[in-house]
Amino acid sequence: MRKPVVLITGANGEIGHGLIDYFSHQTHQDIVALDLHPLDEQLQRHCHASIVGDIVDQNLLQRLVSEFEIHAIYHLAALLSTRAEYTPDAAHAVNVNGTLNLLKLAHEQARWHGNTVKFLFPSSIAAYGLPDRAAKTDAGRVTETEFAFPRTMYGCNKLYCEQLGRYFSDHFRQLAQDPAPSGVDFRALRYPGLISAQTAPSGGTSDYAPEMLHAAARGEPYNCFVDPEVVIPFMAMPDAIDGLVRLAEADAGKLRQRVYNVTAFSPSAGQIREEVLRHFPDAQIGYEVDLPRTRIVDSWPADVNDTPARQDWGWAPRYDFESAFRDYLVPGISRTAQQSHG
Ligand code: NAD
Ligand code: SER
Repeated sequence: MRKPVVLITGANGEIGHGLIDYFSHQTHQDIVALDLHPLDEQLQRHCHASIVGDIVDQNLLQRLVSEFEIHAIYHLAALLSTRAEYTPDAAHAVNVNGTLNLLKLAHEQARWHGNTVKFLFPSSIAAYGLPDRAAKTDAGRVTETEFAFPRTMYGCNKLYCEQLGRYFSDHFRQLAQDPAPSGVDFRALRYPGLISAQTAPSGGTSDYAPEMLHAAARGEPYNCFVDPEVVIPFMAMPDAIDGLVRLAEADAGKLRQRVYNVTAFSPSAGQIREEVLRHFPDAQIGYEVDLPRTRIVDSWPADVNDTPARQDWGWAPRYDFESAFRDYLVPGISRTAQQSHG
């Protein structure tokens, strides 16, 4: 008998940490964690199995299929936007081919056990592409269907994978003699930049916000790579996890879209710096603007319209800008620092 499990790819990343921690406090789920890197030890005890491997490796995925009965996939593994821009071929291989491999795996699993496989996909504001800062200011809160002209390899990968997911769920093998649903229930969130108290990011372009904060907490100087006027939406990690889990649990009949915007607050880089300084008055935060990276951030919207998520499945972030710092980030970072010193 194969074991019924939930598969989390990219489990050792920032969202993976938050998601496994969340599941560890909820009703029991057998988690199979997959990542290129070994899973953090404190997460391993919450998982049924933790596998080191590459989502591009078809043999590895076939082995998973033979060992486990997968009922839901949280597909988090990806190369983020800055890293993807430096290694576009590798990004395409992981972000697109890897996602296609997992969609095929989900379909195969659904066929085997006869139940739908939920496929949760964290997309991104990087799927948008606005021409410049002035256009972005004019655009205001953008809906899911506007400005779908990403300027990064990562954004192109995300946008295409949203479409692939829609294809698998709604139009799979439509010209087959006996067309049958794929059994994949694809659901995606377009996340803004995420900020975690537990982990520091790497390889993203929204990283300036969490980097400023984590450097201040460590007592290290930091130079922000975008100018103070730059604005994109952000969210505290617990809300990102809550959104993912709520979307997974939502009644399929209520979901009118496969891809939903979610957001929490939209501070400028200058406002983030001020908020960090309010909590860490000795922090040294300057600016060393990287123009190409700034242009990428400027191609992402300043705000997104998340009304469909609020209406269809009750999306409502717990933290606004001030409470995210006051009630989650600052106390969480201090606790994490104490634990690592103690
Ligand atoms: P992360 O970089 O912290 O984690 C990604 C994980 O994927 C890493 O542990 C990495 O080792 C793993 N990975 C990379 N390539 C792999 C491969 N070929 N096979 C197996 N594992 C591989 O990123 P994160 O912040 O946890 O992001 C998770 C997902 O959420 C990604 O899809 C990302 O695009 C998306 N997302 C993140 C943000 C954000 O601000 N953090 C915003 C929007 C969307
Ligand atoms: N926060 C991510 C990045 O900067 C966007 O998904 O790459």
